[in-house]
Amino acid sequence: MARKELAIVKLGGSLITHKEKPLTINSQVIDTIGNTLSKSDNPLILVHGGGSFGHYFADKYGLTTKPSKVSAEGVSKTRASMLELNLKILSCLDKHGLNPYSLPPSNFAQSTTKAKRKLFLSLIDYGLTPVTYGDVLLESKGFYVLSGDEITRMLSEALKPIRVIFLLNVDGIFRNLNQPDSLIEELKPEDLTKIRVKSIDMDVTGGMGLKVKEAIRMAKDGIDVMFINGTNQEIILRALKGELLKGTLIRGLRK
Ligand SMILES: Nc1ncnc2c1ncn2[C@@H]1O[C@H](COP(=O)(O)OP(=O)(O)O)[C@@H](O)[C@H]1O
Ligand SMILES: [Mg+2]
Repeated sequence: MARKELAIVKLGGSLITHKEKPLTINSQVIDTIGNTLSKSDNPLILVHGGGSFGHYFADKYGLTTKPSKVSAEGVSKTRASMLELNLKILSCLDKHGLNPYSLPPSNFAQSTTKAKRKLFLSLIDYGLTPVTYGDVLLESKGFYVLSGDEITRMLSEALKPIRVIFLLNVDGIFRNLNQPDSLIEELKPEDLTKIRVKSIDMDVTGGMGLKVKEAIRMAKDGIDVMFINGTNQEIILRALKGELLKGTLIRGLRK
């Protein structure tokens, strides 16, 4: 398989679940994504967010991206909800023949860049599609949430994919979400201050604000990052080929 065409695709939690309704998945969207990705020739690494699974419990029990001494019950329930969501996604990807291989971040988050690279490339060469997700991890000061966006950036650094694609429940990054005509076609890192980011309830990993910051870090590392609507098959297929039909591009800095 041509490794140089490797794409990392982040399935937004807000896209694959109904974020306003705790513990509900958007089966139709997940099915469309599975079907679409199965038509792609690119080797893929998939990362999914928590949506109304992980975020629901993390918010309820006070877990954040900063390590803290949260209750054991909260840690357990948040982690279990992510496994439950992961399993639902796996079963859909399996149905579409993607040979998904579930990898909890605890398996690789603390490994070296070289070890991450070796692990993921071995799985891909075997014909599998690695699927990982935002999770609850332990360090000396306690438990913290590692967001899917951060994992995406971590894997981008290790694997240097041809592109990273964020599948969203909106068309891309807007200057102002309340103005439908303000979709940004190409975002330059210095334009960051020009976007208004509206935060939503029950989001423990920083929503669009932190996502864009991670994306800019990847772009500075030379990777093209795209933000597109994950409900549209044609837009996803084109993006996988590097064409932006509709959405936002943050161009990787060519050194
Ligand atoms: N300027 C903006 N452009 C696009 N989306 C924005 C903006 N400001 C806030 N958002 C919100 O950010 C959401 C995406 O962030 P998030 O819910 O964390 O997605 P994900 O689940 O993919 O991580 C969108 O659904 C939208 O409501
Ligand atoms: Mg998010």
